[in-house]
Amino acid sequence: MGFALLKASTTLLLMITFVVGLAFSQEDQSSNLDEGTIDRTNDVRHSQFTESINDATEETQEPLQALYMIDPVAIGYVQNVKVTPYRTVEMTTVAKNPPLFEVRNLISREECDSLIAYGESVGLTRSKVVTAEFDEKYGVYTKDGSTTSYNQTEWGATFAKYDEDANGLLDYKEVQACLPGYTTDEGELSIAEIQRLFLDFDLDADSDLHLGLNEFWAMHSRDVEAMMKNWFSLRTAGQIDMSVASKGRGRISDQTWVDWRNLPGGLLNDLGDRLSGLTKLDPNILQTSEHMQVARYFPGGHYHAHYDTEEFDTDKECIHTKTVFEGVHHTHPKGRLCRYITIMYYLSDVEEGGETAFPLANNETFDQQVYDDISGKICDLSNHCYEANAVVKPEKGMAVMWYNHKRHPQTGWLGPVDKYSLHGGCDVRKGVKWIANNWITVDDVYARQQKLHEWSSPKPSGEEGAISTIGEEDDRVVSGLSSVDGTNERASGAASGSERYSTETVESGKLSDQLIDHADREQSKTEL
Ligand code: OGA
Ligand code: CA
Ligand code: FE2
Repeated sequence: MGFALLKASTTLLLMITFVVGLAFSQEDQSSNLDEGTIDRTNDVRHSQFTESINDATEETQEPLQALYMIDPVAIGYVQNVKVTPYRTVEMTTVAKNPPLFEVRNLISREECDSLIAYGESVGLTRSKVVTAEFDEKYGVYTKDGSTTSYNQTEWGATFAKYDEDANGLLDYKEVQACLPGYTTDEGELSIAEIQRLFLDFDLDADSDLHLGLNEFWAMHSRDVEAMMKNWFSLRTAGQIDMSVASKGRGRISDQTWVDWRNLPGGLLNDLGDRLSGLTKLDPNILQTSEHMQVARYFPGGHYHAHYDTEEFDTDKECIHTKTVFEGVHHTHPKGRLCRYITIMYYLSDVEEGGETAFPLANNETFDQQVYDDISGKICDLSNHCYEANAVVKPEKGMAVMWYNHKRHPQTGWLGPVDKYSLHGGCDVRKGVKWIANNWITVDDVYARQQKLHEWSSPKPSGEEGAISTIGEEDDRVVSGLSSVDGTNERASGAASGSERYSTETVESGKLSDQLIDHADREQSKTEL
């Protein structure tokens, strides 16, 4: 089978299943959630909105619709789906946990070329400092490596003390040993905490998940003592959220954001229809989802395993709605990513490497503690790509699609993060890899998502529109109107079929601008 390498990762499976007590079991996905309405009483996600926003439309709300989720049926199962009157795509199931598919014929090779060309014309930016820039920043060595601003022999000796296996790199465990004296309530720094330190202080400049000598030196040159003290006081005050699952573990790539609903020359102008046809989600969900991210990896480029989304958290709100309702900046600390589905297109073939790996796909249990212990290894896709349970090979024009969230067992709306959706891009060894990410966003607070739909699809004039309830930020938002031709044909005749969704021609652009903001959030996050 050419579609994917699949294997039972025996060691991993063993390690994960032996702690049975805390096992996290996959919720039933074959439930009757696909049709009809569901109960939304007694659920914080639905009460929270009315409490905090005091939504006047509560009584007039229609019953919740369950989010559609495609049945993966079985690994290797092929289904042909007519997504528009003119297009049938072929979906092949790669995994059931998470539901993961290879999708062919969703976009054409020509559309891939156009997306790349458009991305290049907009310009791409590097996600992370690379070694040369890092060295320049910290004065470690000049580009020819001839001079150093620290005594290499001296630091080399200190480094060697901690480099137990003498491989010239400190892994999480070795770093743990070189940061003694810092203890938490539970004892010494956990591996998970070390991982957070790597991210929070950008210690791992070259994104190989280890500290090399230069990185080790740079850490100390930055007053590690003060840095740790500060980090610990935040940690003690509960301000470091250790449950954040989505923090990337390092990425070397260049990317840009593309408004896929308003591409020049009508490029991909029916993509919203294709996607609602494919996912069977309300077209309004597609119309209010994020912009597309176009990314490029050169040889050595990768994206270590991560989650694309974040777990429900009462202290934070989905950023795709928050930016619209409150006009807040996309990096707002009270925002979080709410990405139900990822659809990632391969815009190019890759000569060697560049696979997309899913280390936990198809596992049957998930234990956070076990995961924390082994994540340093399984998330390191430079070295452990082919140990992942599912590995998809790039193929120009093919898309990979998976669900990042499960559905809420009671309401059928957006539920917890699917822990098996952990994934990333393996090292490109030869050639250049281009991808585009289409993230389908859904607010787990149902009423907020509904509000977003009303906002993007105003009622006919004369009726009070949803916008009037959003607040004073509106002026700013509405004045952002900037669409290319001022109009945007709404997706019509698509999955939902509900009369409440306007099929008239409406102005677009204001939402679009907010979504750019939202999209930038990701970029500035990775640039931290
Ligand atoms: C991403 C991602 C995987 C890949 O961009 O979020 O997971 O194969 N990419 O590039
Ligand atoms: Ca490193
Ligand atoms: Fe991702």
